[in-house]
Amino acid sequence: MEYVESTKAFYEAQKVFPGGVNSPVRAFGAMERDPIFIEKGEGAYLYDVDGNHYLDYVLSWGPLVLGHSDSRVVDAIVEQANKGTSYGATTPIETELGILLQSLYPSMEQLRFVNSGTEATMSAIRLARGYTGRKRIVKFSGCYHGHGDSFLVEAGSGVATYGTSNSAGVPEEIANLTSTLPYNDMAALEDFFELHGNEVAGVIIEPVAGNMGLVPSNYIFLQRIRQLTEEFGALLIFDEVMTGSRAAYRGAQEAYSIQPDITTLAKVIGGGLPCAAYGGKREIMAFVSPLGSVYQAGTLSGNPLAMAAGLATLKNYHEEDFNQLVNYVERLKEAVLSLAEQYALPVQFQSFGSMFSIFFSETPVENYADAQASNQEMFKRFFSGLLDLGIYIPPSQYETLFVSTKHGEVEFQLTVEAIDKVFQSLCRK
Ligand SMILES: Cc1ncc(COP(=O)(O)O)c(C=O)c1O
Repeated sequence: MEYVESTKAFYEAQKVFPGGVNSPVRAFGAMERDPIFIEKGEGAYLYDVDGNHYLDYVLSWGPLVLGHSDSRVVDAIVEQANKGTSYGATTPIETELGILLQSLYPSMEQLRFVNSGTEATMSAIRLARGYTGRKRIVKFSGCYHGHGDSFLVEAGSGVATYGTSNSAGVPEEIANLTSTLPYNDMAALEDFFELHGNEVAGVIIEPVAGNMGLVPSNYIFLQRIRQLTEEFGALLIFDEVMTGSRAAYRGAQEAYSIQPDITTLAKVIGGGLPCAAYGGKREIMAFVSPLGSVYQAGTLSGNPLAMAAGLATLKNYHEEDFNQLVNYVERLKEAVLSLAEQYALPVQFQSFGSMFSIFFSETPVENYADAQASNQEMFKRFFSGLLDLGIYIPPSQYETLFVSTKHGEVEFQLTVEAIDKVFQSLCRK
């Protein structure tokens, strides 16, 4: 494949944007090659500026459950755009999408629309602090909750230590208010709550982590978090930005039968347009302005184009569609593991619902340390090999792959053939 036009476009973009991108992972930095520049997306495929096309397993990092430019979503956006793109005033379609979300996520007795996952999680922890009158937030290593100051924090040494930021520009005073615990580590969780449980405003977790590759939480661990937060009067926040409509049709809270106090959603609910939400128990949401004293607002919140795209997506994405995606992933898992065995490669295919990732590791990946210990060099070659064969997966080991309703039999076969070739090349070197 030729990437001449993409290379030129990247050169131009670097004059305008830091690193040539508007979100870091798009720079392909970890893969040590230049990024592709996209011209259009259609169904399960992306087309770049050189005229190459790729079977897409990134799907805009999750939102596109119906694939690219689904005609029902596009028509809904066009119809709404003809009536105006933003009013800065309330519209009935906000309520319509809100009611639809409430029916899917009964724990969201009330909710508020915002514009990005980051905005949803930042608002959720402000609400947890406002509601409990406490300051401390607990998160888990390897989980990503957007780029809010309170989330760009690493674990200090020992579970009881205060966090330190992993981004310049985050004041120490803010980082100190976040504690980061190891994922799926029951002893660390219990020890922490014993010492600090009374300080905790909220515990935020990706119930199925998708930001260290795909790593599901252990059911007993998640259940223990639910118990401890209840016992200590802290709020449990499920960050379902990625898992909503994907871990199960009604999100990870359905899969695990655990009700959080607050849920954050984004990605699928906006059908590829900027849209997110946070919501929870009515009593907690009553703290949000203008009803309550926790301030949060947005010029474009509940934007009519995003509402139209979200509604068109969710109304055309039924439980059977979700099951079709799960079936695709399960068949792929079987095929990939059989190829791995044939080529004697140490492969872990980790999946949950319509999300999956592939680690080159002898043992299952259960937390961030395991993900870091997997063979990154092999992943890099895997990524590049697939890209050159027209299969686009996330340019990072620490991301998740997604499928859409447009991924059918042809796409399945293409993928298996490409993985066969790449695995073969991995074992030759
Ligand atoms: C679980 C999770 N939470 C929050 C975010 C942040 O969302 P956004 O990129 O829309 O700000 C992401 C982004 O990928 C995410 O995966």
